[in-house]
Amino acid sequence: MNIVAFNGSPTQGGNTEYLLKKVLEVLSEKGLETEFVQLGGKSIKGCRACFKCFANKDKKCSVTDDVANECITKAINADAILIGSPTYFTNVTAETKALIDRLGFVSLANGGLLKRKIGAAIVAVRRGGAIHVFDSINHLFLMTEMIIAGSTYWNFGYGRTPGEAAQDEEGNKNMKNLGENIAWLLDKIGEQKIRD
Ligand SMILES: Cc1cc2nc3c(=O)[nH]c(=O)nc-3n(C[C@H](O)[C@H](O)[C@H](O)COP(=O)(O)O)c2cc1C
Repeated sequence: MNIVAFNGSPTQGGNTEYLLKKVLEVLSEKGLETEFVQLGGKSIKGCRACFKCFANKDKKCSVTDDVANECITKAINADAILIGSPTYFTNVTAETKALIDRLGFVSLANGGLLKRKIGAAIVAVRRGGAIHVFDSINHLFLMTEMIIAGSTYWNFGYGRTPGEAAQDEEGNKNMKNLGENIAWLLDKIGEQKIRD
C-alpha cells in the first residue's frame, strides 16, 4: 500500500512540508511506501473547463505542459492521498487549488478514480483561516467518494516562519495521530472481509 503527499506550499522546508513529513514518518515506520511531492512553486495551471477529460476518458488532463498529469497519475496509483497547503488569505494556495480542480475532474470523468481511497488534508497556519483551507481540500475528497481520515483539531499546525510548526506541540501530536489513523484504515481496507 502506498501513500502520496502533495505539498501545496511554494516554501520548501516550510511548515506544510514539516507537517506532511510528520505524517509520512509514522506511515513509513509502519512499513508503508510513502512519497512526498513538491507541488507549490511548480507550474500548474487552473482548470480551463474544456471538458476534454470527459470526452477522452484517458485518466489524464488534456493540458500537458505542466505538472498536473504527473500528480494525477501519482494520485490514481496511491491508496491514500495527503494534500497539504498553507493558509493564504484563508484559502489554499493557487497550486493546491489547480490540483484540486484538475485531479477532481479527471477522477469524475473516468468513473471515479479516487473512489474509496483514503484522503487527509493538512494545513499550516500562522493565526486564522485554517478551517476554510481544510474544508476546501476535503470538498475534493468528499466529492470524489474518498474516505477521510481525521485526527483531533482538524490537522492544523501553527507557525509563521519555515519550521516554526515544529514548536507546535499539539500540532505535532495531531500529525502523529493522523498517521496512525491512516495506517489503521489502510490495514482494515487491506483485510477485505466483506465481499463487494
Ligand atoms: C500570501 C500569504 C497569505 C497568508 N495568509 C494567511 C492567512 O490568511 N492566515 C494566516 O493565519 N496566515 C496566513 N499566512 C501565513 C502562512 O499561512 C504561514 O506562514 C504558514 O505557516 C506558511 O506555511 P509554509 O511554510 O508551508 O509555506 C499567509 C502567508 C502568505 C505568504
